[in-house]
Amino acid sequence: MTRWLLTGGAGYIGAHVALDLLASGREVTILDDLTTGLRSRIPDGADFVEASVLDTDAVRRALDGVTGVIHLAAKKAVGESVEQPLLYYRENVGGMVSLLQAMADAATPCMVYSSSAAVYGEPPWSPISEDSPLTPLSPYGETKVIGEWMVRDEAVARADSTPLSWVTLRYFNVAGAGSPELGDTSANNLIPMVFDALDRGEAPQVFGSDYPTHDGSCVRDYIHVSDLAAAHVAAAALCESGGVAAVFNVGTGVGSSVLEVMGAVSDVVGRDVGAVAVDRRAGDPPELVASVDRISAELGWSAQRDLRDMVASASAARG
Ligand SMILES: NC(=O)c1ccc[n+]([C@@H]2O[C@H](COP(=O)([O-])OP(=O)(O)OC[C@H]3O[C@@H](n4cnc5c(N)ncnc54)[C@H](O)[C@@H]3O)[C@@H](O)[C@H]2O)c1
Repeated sequence: MTRWLLTGGAGYIGAHVALDLLASGREVTILDDLTTGLRSRIPDGADFVEASVLDTDAVRRALDGVTGVIHLAAKKAVGESVEQPLLYYRENVGGMVSLLQAMADAATPCMVYSSSAAVYGEPPWSPISEDSPLTPLSPYGETKVIGEWMVRDEAVARADSTPLSWVTLRYFNVAGAGSPELGDTSANNLIPMVFDALDRGEAPQVFGSDYPTHDGSCVRDYIHVSDLAAAHVAAAALCESGGVAAVFNVGTGVGSSVLEVMGAVSDVVGRDVGAVAVDRRAGDPPELVASVDRISAELGWSAQRDLRDMVASASAARG
């Protein structure tokens, strides 16, 4: 049996990953500073260390007996990263320096890293393959690119002494909930934003209706958080086989427009949500859809759930 350390395991995605790792027969330690994470999300059967990844000594101690790290802990709000870039560099880049140092000291052999489609910025083509240029549009996306480079470079440096086997997962738009108590409590993503607007009795807004897409609204690749969690277990298993250096997109390969998301929400709540079109937001690319050929071929993973599953489970998680 192997043990995995999940940084940020009390967060929205981390809690789903923790449950799936436990179900796969692996042991789990969660290290989280609870800045946005919730103690209530830590599953029975997981050990918990309340600490920041910036605390290298605490991470080193938590790595005792650990085969691999799934590094989810990060700040993730694009707008906030534009306003406070140093916070994002300190937490996301500084956090990675601290973690990789502790992993080198402990000779930890495996790493799965939470990256993001934000590394692609506004890609010149769609669907986006992993070899597309990395041109992030925000400090958040920049910290994710730097994190990817750091993992790759550290694995090269450790190759002759304590080899590091690694997988980077570039998540597209994560949505839904595996169970009602594990919903996304942040309001950074479209589906929670739509439900928040409905709760306030307001019409949800569609930012931009003149994009060069099939209905004029932005198109994104929404991935159910339970499918994403399964991808982490597959990535952990691949890392455990040793000698891995891989980057995978994690999406469905299918784009949904903002208007289609509004339609799915209308179906789930049983009435037209009355979405209103407003001006475009700065920095929103028209279309971001993942090519999923590589993850399907090399990891044997593909998404099982569709947009309606995501909206219905997100709705159920709001009580
Ligand atoms: N949610 C998405 O749509 C999405 C998309 C792409 C990538 N990601 C990435 O996935 C990861 C998890 O995101 P999430 O949606 O679960 O966010 P989240 O905010 O719910 O989870 C992040 C967790 O990390 C913890 N954390 C933050 N800084 C920490 C630190 N310095 N030390 C220890 N713990 C710390 C928080 O308390 C929280 O539990 C992040 O790296 C994020 O950038 C998320």
